[in-house]
Amino acid sequence: MSARVGIHDLAVATAAHVLDLGDLATAAGIDPAKYRVGLGQEQMSVPGPDEDVVTMAAAAAAPILARHGADGIRTLFFATESGIDQSKAAGVFVHRLLGLPASCRVVELKQACYSATAALQAAADMVARRPEDRVLVIASDIARYDLDSAAEATQGAGAVAMLVAADPAIAEVEAAAGVFTADVDDFWRPNDSATAVVDGKLSIGAYLDGMIGAWDDYRARGGVAIDAIDRFCHHQPFTKMAVKAHRRLGEHVGVDLGAESMAASTGYNRRIGNSYTASLYLALAALLDTDDDLAGRRVGMFSYGSGSVSELFTLVVAEGYRAHTRGAETEALLAARTPVDVARYRELHAAAASLGSHDDAEVAQESAGPFHFTGIAGRARQYRRA
Ligand code: CAA
Repeated sequence: MSARVGIHDLAVATAAHVLDLGDLATAAGIDPAKYRVGLGQEQMSVPGPDEDVVTMAAAAAAPILARHGADGIRTLFFATESGIDQSKAAGVFVHRLLGLPASCRVVELKQACYSATAALQAAADMVARRPEDRVLVIASDIARYDLDSAAEATQGAGAVAMLVAADPAIAEVEAAAGVFTADVDDFWRPNDSATAVVDGKLSIGAYLDGMIGAWDDYRARGGVAIDAIDRFCHHQPFTKMAVKAHRRLGEHVGVDLGAESMAASTGYNRRIGNSYTASLYLALAALLDTDDDLAGRRVGMFSYGSGSVSELFTLVVAEGYRAHTRGAETEALLAARTPVDVARYRELHAAAASLGSHDDAEVAQESAGPFHFTGIAGRARQYRRA
């Protein structure tokens, strides 16, 4: 890659409601410290009936278009685990909601929590080939597990949109990357299931194995040594997982990496919960928004998607990045969520699982967000801008 290519803008969205995990623990008769300390989670975002991956994706991307316009955006990659149709890309709805030009290719990518990283890499390669093009990469997911399961406290919902361009204002994506794929049944979601099937303990081991495999491949492909990486973002199904990953990577390379080189990356995920494809990029957003000493620094990014595919790559943060980050906007979004109690959360969870694609249904507007899912007509999902 000759020209500098990377993330020119990045914006976040989440769902309208929030559940305090202390309340969830108390209702289940579990010590709240298990969630707060053991998992490293405080809250989780809970979508209302009129929200899904499309509405969150459009909400994340809208501020990027407001700042930069749509000129040059010839590709929209939509990365998700929780897609809403077996055939049509969720990004096509977003393309209309955002008023993107017809001369734009749109495609959805799937591999559990990993596919936004494949999208980012493909976008960077496209822009390297045609530097006048820009690519909109959107990661949007709702993490849903069964009620009363061990995984319940690791649910959440969020989206991150990134504009990939030449001469990026936020961070360059470096060319070296390490990848690792292993067929493992640690987490998956059958076509007829609204919730994921997961073997939690197996998934933690598979994540750590994937990280080591990706790191070794990264080094074999010309990636820099560990001491040339200044900060780390690891995929965060729950933030304690990133702490485990950081420790494990340090053991593997024989260096104490220190918690401070990844701590700032957990600020949003701790309050939003798992957002699958968006999780790693929420970690990046949190790092960019809270660490004001990143200019010129290299950030190691570890992406894991159960099943499993892993990738480790690096970013170099641009000079002047602080002028382009959106920390105040993200804080405002988090603060604007409506708290729900456990009873309401359980109703919302059940309602999400029960709305079938065969229904003709109208969904009342409940959230204050800019985009709404309004129901199903003739088996097709309907959306509108508020
Ligand atoms: N005070 C403080 N800590 C406590 C505690 C208390 N009272 N009680 C328990 N803990 C600690 C435990 O010691 C443990 O910490 P360590 O792992 O550091 O030892 C932690 O809290 C969790 O306790 P358990 O292991 O007993 O928890 P569990 O088995 O009930 O559930 C889980 C944990 C397996 C992660 C479950 O939440 C789950 O299945 N989650 C979904 C799967 C997942 O997120 N996997 C991560 C890797 S896969 C991936 O990354 C892809 C993806 O996004 C899904």
